Amino acid sequence: MNLNFNEKVIHVNDETFEILFDELTIQKRVKELGEEISKDHMGKVPIFIGVLNGSVIFFSDLIRNLSINCEVDFLKLSSYGDAKISSGNVRLIKELNADIKDRDVIIVEDIVDTGLSIVYMKSLIQPQNPASIKVVTLLHKKEATKYELKLDYIGFQIPNKFVIGYGLDYSQRFRHLRSIYALKSTME
Ligand code: IMP
Ligand code: MG
Repeated sequence: MNLNFNEKVIHVNDETFEILFDELTIQKRVKELGEEISKDHMGKVPIFIGVLNGSVIFFSDLIRNLSINCEVDFLKLSSYGDAKISSGNVRLIKELNADIKDRDVIIVEDIVDTGLSIVYMKSLIQPQNPASIKVVTLLHKKEATKYELKLDYIGFQIPNKFVIGYGLDYSQRFRHLRSIYALKSTME
């Protein structure tokens, strides 16, 4: 299969993904988020915690749009189940290395779907007594979120559709696409 950076539509077997946000739209919003987070943390050195694997692309673009100092660390979670449906189970695969006691922690997620991952990560991080915990997510599927959550910074609200690209995968593939694509429903 040939993948072109400027593709408007992506076919995966018999499924069709249509462009939702192009590269320029994403870059513009990520820059705004970087500026907003910098303004809110002036004079501080937060620790940005990336959630592997999905947040890596957003994470690297976001921190390069900061005008404050920062440190970075990563967590890895796994969830099992269908490639397109959140399994309702989360497991920690890689824990934090940084000492986050009394530090301002900012969790960086690619997407908040049911919200379970965020609830789980907060329950892991809170007992380590950070000064604060904030969450930045590039995408939020508000209709799908089942947990009471505070999301401090949201890139885009999106409909409850399966999306790929810019870090988001379909069975581990398509993370490297520069734009974000949504699965076209068979009803459309
Ligand atoms: P949650 O725990 O249900 O909020 O799910 C969060 C995780 O599920 C994200 O960090 C993604 O890894 C994955 N996920 C949720 N929705 C999508 C999607 O539309 N495309 C790809 N991955 C997704
Ligand atoms: Mg993820």
